[in-house]
Amino acid sequence: MIGRDIPSLLRTASELGKLPIAGIDLNLGCPAPIVCRKDAGGGLLRNPQYLDQLLGSLREAIPGYFTVKTRLGYGAPDEFNGLLEIFKKHGIDGLTIHGRTVAERYQTPVHPHFVQSAVLEMECPVIANGNVVDLETGLNYLRKTAAAGLMIGRGAIRNPWIFTQFQAAFANTAPPTPTYRDLWDYVMELYEELARETRKFVALAHVQRMKKTLAYITHGLEGDFEFELRRAKTPEEFHRICKTHLDRGGIIPVRPPVGSKLFCGFETLARNEMG
Ligand SMILES: Cc1cc2nc3c(=O)[nH]c(=O)nc-3n(C[C@H](O)[C@H](O)[C@H](O)COP(=O)(O)O)c2cc1C
Repeated sequence: MIGRDIPSLLRTASELGKLPIAGIDLNLGCPAPIVCRKDAGGGLLRNPQYLDQLLGSLREAIPGYFTVKTRLGYGAPDEFNGLLEIFKKHGIDGLTIHGRTVAERYQTPVHPHFVQSAVLEMECPVIANGNVVDLETGLNYLRKTAAAGLMIGRGAIRNPWIFTQFQAAFANTAPPTPTYRDLWDYVMELYEELARETRKFVALAHVQRMKKTLAYITHGLEGDFEFELRRAKTPEEFHRICKTHLDRGGIIPVRPPVGSKLFCGFETLARNEMG
């Protein structure tokens, strides 16, 4: 759930409770200005007293799993210590931490040290999130924090094989190594799947949506794929450009380029420093 008004959130929780849901998660991480301006998402982190009251009300009303997804604070990472006291107080069932502040948006490395402090202090499982782009960054995030697990966003859009790669790493077997042709199959599946879930399909708008999603995938791949795709307007152009660049063997490099703006700061997770 995302919102700020306690009665509205309670009403939503009650409606959700009538469905066969696994649990309810509260979003305290969204940095979008339109959300934060309304004091929802990450905006709630600016008002710890109100957050305390909100979490207390929701915990009391939600009989099942109630989890929280948060950033480290609004303006500075050391706000997290105060927030942690609030999270500890309300007996939540899980805490996922995107290891940046709202102000840092996506433009810095994550700060594993604060996630580690939550792991030590919280009674519930703590999940580490932010900048996991491959096995090395994920395994290092786990090593640095001792978190119960990882949540992976953009890295999984880029490389959906990342989950089987982690399973293989945990089982001590060889991780799958997808090829450009596998990536092509995935992009085509994504095209069809997102088209199916679109209420009113408009081909040109769908190409624009695909281009936004594919920015995470094509970023830093060799050749002109990223450049050409940005200029695609029609489904025919989109498919032709994908075929030109992806209809071939060769193992895809899953890691984005170092210094990338789209995956900013992941390289420090791959190193052995805390941040
Ligand atoms: C396009 C986009 C949409 C997102 N939507 C949500 C959302 O609805 N709820 C949420 O909790 N986080 C959302 N996030 C944040 C991600 O869950 C995650 O915390 C963030 O991307 C950092 O993790 P990553 O580096 O693995 O991507 C979104 C992120 C992106 C890039």
